[in-house]
Amino acid sequence: MSAIRNRQILLAARPVGEIKSTDFKYQEVDAPEPGEGQALIRNLYLSLDPAMRGWMREGDSYIEPVRLGDVMRGGTIGEVVKSNSAEFKPGDKVFGMGNWQDYWIAGPKSGARALPADVPFPLTNFLSVLGITGLTAYFGILDVGLPKAGETVVVSTAAGAVGSIVCQIAKNKGCRVVGIAGSDDKCAWLINDLGIDAAINYKTQSVAAELRKACPNKIDIYFDNVGGEILNTVLGMINVHARVVICGAITQYNATQAVPGPSNYISLLTKRSRMEGFVVIDYMHRAMEGVMQLGQWLAEGKLKHREDIVEGLENAPNAILRLFDGSNKGKLIVKIA
Ligand SMILES: NC(=O)c1ccc[n+]([C@@H]2O[C@H](COP(=O)([O-])OP(=O)(O)OC[C@H]3O[C@@H](n4cnc5c(N)ncnc54)[C@H](OP(=O)(O)O)[C@@H]3O)[C@@H](O)[C@H]2O)c1
Repeated sequence: MSAIRNRQILLAARPVGEIKSTDFKYQEVDAPEPGEGQALIRNLYLSLDPAMRGWMREGDSYIEPVRLGDVMRGGTIGEVVKSNSAEFKPGDKVFGMGNWQDYWIAGPKSGARALPADVPFPLTNFLSVLGITGLTAYFGILDVGLPKAGETVVVSTAAGAVGSIVCQIAKNKGCRVVGIAGSDDKCAWLINDLGIDAAINYKTQSVAAELRKACPNKIDIYFDNVGGEILNTVLGMINVHARVVICGAITQYNATQAVPGPSNYISLLTKRSRMEGFVVIDYMHRAMEGVMQLGQWLAEGKLKHREDIVEGLENAPNAILRLFDGSNKGKLIVKIA
């Protein structure tokens, strides 16, 4: 019997500036055989994330960089095709770091988790609203942002996968929510579909002038996904005891030179405020709590979300660029099989 072939996309070069499709290399190898206590997983869907740009770079971070020549790292949903493990049986759907390839081995230390069979949600939701994306929004806004009814919350990349969930959780908590996004279409979706209070197109409008109008009581929480000028502008408009959640800094991920710090940081002193970095993997021991709550809100119609699904593993190297030009509409996912 001929071996199962495994298509893989490797990291071939460390990007300088923007990612280029030539930073990746395609190869085909035989799929691995599961050993004792292991299962062979066939990937169905791959999550594409801005954080991947950081994983491609050398240097100190919250996780080791991907080594040159290794299969590119990524979270996946897959299906068990062969199993020598009591934990996984053929047909089970599994979440794990299955990477940019067709097949991988899940075992006791791989961090793979079988998904419940009887949930009324599409599988892709476990990479979006019920996956790392939803959990980032949930723990970031609730545990670090600590929203209270009546407060004003500003969210950047507000129409994106994480940002759109943050907006709705803050709105459900009774906050005034102002989103910042990169197109009129995205701003219209935020207001008309998600019901937030105001939205600012940072590409065509003055963020400072529009924030002054949209935040008459200034800003209590800023959920920051971009860093840079927008972070600096918001810092100049915070209230006493504000919370600035540093979730991401996409304006800086492609930087080739040192990035200037926010000159308005002194507001943290004058306003006795807190700016705190946050990484969702620190909350994995509470993942079930987050998934249950997000699932309940989803079932009750209190959460809307969008998924942007690209067909074909071979298209992942080009698709990831869309996170940086803003052309993704919602959680970017590659359908592998
Ligand atoms: N801390 C954590 O544990 C954690 C976990 C997951 C994600 N994150 C962070 O959360 C943020 C959002 O991630 P996501 O997966 O939800 O992606 P996403 O928001 O769905 O997609 C990225 C969006 O970023 C915006 N963007 C790209 N370049 C930009 C720039 N130079 N200036 C301003 N906006 C820019 C684009 O939207 P526009 O059209 O609005 O420009 C793009 O659609 C990222 O910063 C990511 O690193 C953090």
